[in-house]
Amino acid sequence: MENLDWKNLGFGYTDTNFNVRCYYKDGKWGELETSDSNQISLHMAATCLHYGQEAFEGLKAYRGKDGKIRVFRIEENALRMQASAQGILMQEFPIEKFKQAVFKAIKLNEEFVPPYGSGASLYVRPLLIGSGPQIGVKPAEEYMFVVFVMPVGPYFKAGFKPTDYVIYREYDRAAPHGTGNIKVGGNYAASLNAGIRAHKEGYSAVLYLDAQEKKYIDECGPANFFGIKGNSYVTPQSKSILPSITNKSLRQLAKDFGLTIEERRIPVEELAEFSEAGACGTAAVVSPIRSIFDADKEITYMYGDEPGEISQKLYNKLIDIQYGCVDDPHNWVTVVE
Ligand code: PLP
Ligand code: COI
Repeated sequence: MENLDWKNLGFGYTDTNFNVRCYYKDGKWGELETSDSNQISLHMAATCLHYGQEAFEGLKAYRGKDGKIRVFRIEENALRMQASAQGILMQEFPIEKFKQAVFKAIKLNEEFVPPYGSGASLYVRPLLIGSGPQIGVKPAEEYMFVVFVMPVGPYFKAGFKPTDYVIYREYDRAAPHGTGNIKVGGNYAASLNAGIRAHKEGYSAVLYLDAQEKKYIDECGPANFFGIKGNSYVTPQSKSILPSITNKSLRQLAKDFGLTIEERRIPVEELAEFSEAGACGTAAVVSPIRSIFDADKEITYMYGDEPGEISQKLYNKLIDIQYGCVDDPHNWVTVVE
């Protein structure tokens, strides 16, 4: 892949050589299969197409200075995909099979894992869908699991540079007791209108409030939210946000740095009290927030043009662990052999 411009990759789809698939039929999961096609053949009445039986995951593989390829907290992704499956009554994909499939997809596409120092990584996208037909609103009897990979750069074009976010009260990405806490496609469909409007108006993402009261911070379209207040790392507690593995890791790192962790409801007005704010996720990594514009109240909360000191420290530590540059005291990384 010598002709790939690793340093200027954005977060977009590209074909790689192979993907790995597995089918659930007659009450059991089959063996892992390798495919060189980017197409899938699907029954027109498949439940994923009609009734949203679809869940996905996102994780990354990183090439270290030592040339080794590492994945970050893969078991957490496997478990979250099982939680997503439970949430919309799909067959759970077994944890060990999930790991094997991901490792296999990475190894088969090893040449696409960006070189150390390019700032890019290999994004891994596991997908689980109801593939069997139903016309009544019922779970499918057949499922398909696929994992494909592609090299990616930063999710937000600016990379680790503060960008602007916006609050609009007229959109929700998830209902209070709905599917916001699992990684199902419907949540992302529900976020498209607000997300595209935000981009057109010059913001990198929408910051959603809780759907019930519109009083508390929930999360961003593709990432969790955190704020720094005094010596505390503050992040929302909500039943309708995705439990982010990055956020969970940042809470641990912040604790290791001696910060207090506050996982609680965050009233919108408290945005004025943070010295730093950021979005975090696999794709977003740590994305510092420069400003948040509350479009309904016409209030702007400002956090500065440069990343804050604590955000910078958390970001450095996180990526150093992911790329294998420092010790991994919490056993978060697995070398792909
Ligand atoms: N919130 C949403 C809605 C997401 O789509 C993601 C991305 O996976 C996250 C948060 C961050 O989660 P993680 O850190 O596990 O990637
Ligand atoms: C991720 O961070 O992996 C995501 O899933 C975010 C987005 C691309 C949907």
